[in-house]
Amino acid sequence: MFKALRRERTDKSFLFIFFGILVVCIAVLLVVALFVLRVKTPEVKLRSVKMKSLKYSFWPPSFNTTLSAQMTVKNPNFGYYLFEPSTVSFLYGGSRVGASRLGKGEVKLLTTATLSFGMDVRSNSLPEGRNTLIRDLNSGILKLSASGSVSGRMILWKIVNQSKTSNIDCSMTLVLRTKTINDLVCR
Ligand SMILES: *[C@@H]1O[C@H](CO)[C@@H](O)[C@H](O)[C@H]1NC(C)=O
Ligand SMILES: *[C@@H]1O[C@H](CO)[C@@H](O)[C@H](O)[C@H]1NC(C)=O
Repeated sequence: MFKALRRERTDKSFLFIFFGILVVCIAVLLVVALFVLRVKTPEVKLRSVKMKSLKYSFWPPSFNTTLSAQMTVKNPNFGYYLFEPSTVSFLYGGSRVGASRLGKGEVKLLTTATLSFGMDVRSNSLPEGRNTLIRDLNSGILKLSASGSVSGRMILWKIVNQSKTSNIDCSMTLVLRTKTINDLVCR
């Protein structure tokens, strides 16, 4: 009688341990699955902008510059990212002064792809009338910004096929004296 009771008790604790381990395993798998399957937005930035040539005149106020830039597409997901062709625009005082068309590509899981491109910036596309160009040319520093968006699909095995769009939003300064692009900051 006493022995049987003890046997039953050990059987029961074995079952408790077994189900306990099972529950913990399922919980861990769920957490891993949620973590792996949660699709985050890729991060698109300009990593560098270099000046290849610069021409400017104070009267009529004008500047033309050729830049070479590198854009990075960082894929923080466990699937691969297929992105479509995109356009990156450069702006001065809110007006577009240059644009480049970039090709499509693929970024493997947890990696960063780099796209290099050239950009011709021409101030003659600025709207006529009052603008800050004369003042900025005199100060020797022109503020430029870059904008655009990259769209694509995040593919994770056969489970996830989700569309994701990332924006490029960067600012920089063009310094006439040194003929350089400084203070590149992307948000
Ligand atoms: C910039 O380019 C435009 C057209 O290509 C030209 O008319 C203008 O004179 C150029 N400006 C300078 C400062 O070279
Ligand atoms: C993902 O979905 C899009 C549109 O639904 C489709 O065109 C594309 O072929 C799919 N890609 C893959 C790898 O399944």
